[in-house]
Amino acid sequence: MSEKLKLGVLVSGRGSNLQAIIDGIERGEIDAEIAVVISNHPDVLAIERARRHGLACEVVTREAYRSRREHHLAIIDVLRHRGVELVVLAGFDRVLHPEACRAFPERIINIHPSLLPAFGGGLHAQADALAHGVKVSGCTVHIVTEAVDAGPIILQAAVPVLDTDDVESLAARILEQEHRLLPRAIQLFAEGRLRVVGRRVLGTD
Ligand code: GRF
Repeated sequence: MSEKLKLGVLVSGRGSNLQAIIDGIERGEIDAEIAVVISNHPDVLAIERARRHGLACEVVTREAYRSRREHHLAIIDVLRHRGVELVVLAGFDRVLHPEACRAFPERIINIHPSLLPAFGGGLHAQADALAHGVKVSGCTVHIVTEAVDAGPIILQAAVPVLDTDDVESLAARILEQEHRLLPRAIQLFAEGRLRVVGRRVLGTD
């Protein structure tokens, strides 16, 4: 039997996307295993979810390091030590330092709650979409490069923006799609189907 793809999942808070990955693996829909969950904040729900499922979990806080670069390279050390092959940013609230991005070329993916390239680069994509008055928003899974939220797009899902929406209701509608999209992107990666050609990621049809 061949070894399963080893995932390293980076989280910062609630961890509902982490939960979607855990559930996908447990249901046999993702052919991978979580080698480590890393949180940059202590005492967050994501850590509790990881522990509940018996996953290796490490807290690597910014305060323990002199610079953002050292902090992110320490995270890379943990990922390497655990033999991680694909890094998943699942609600990680920091922009990875360029050197950290380069440590796993085309092997770091992120879920962002908008249809990129719209409303990238921040932590309030849903509020920005609402404020702009767009009629459709959604989420994007993309490959992480040094350019923030601008790497090649793997999958996107769209949702309508309704007259009655506030940030919370729109975020909830998008989140439902995130939980579907991120596991699917990981499985496509695990199957070795993705091919990056310039800005395009082929093999997702
Ligand atoms: C998600 O909306 C994700 O797209 C964004 O941060 C949120 C994290 O949610 N990057 P959770 O921690 O996975 O529940």
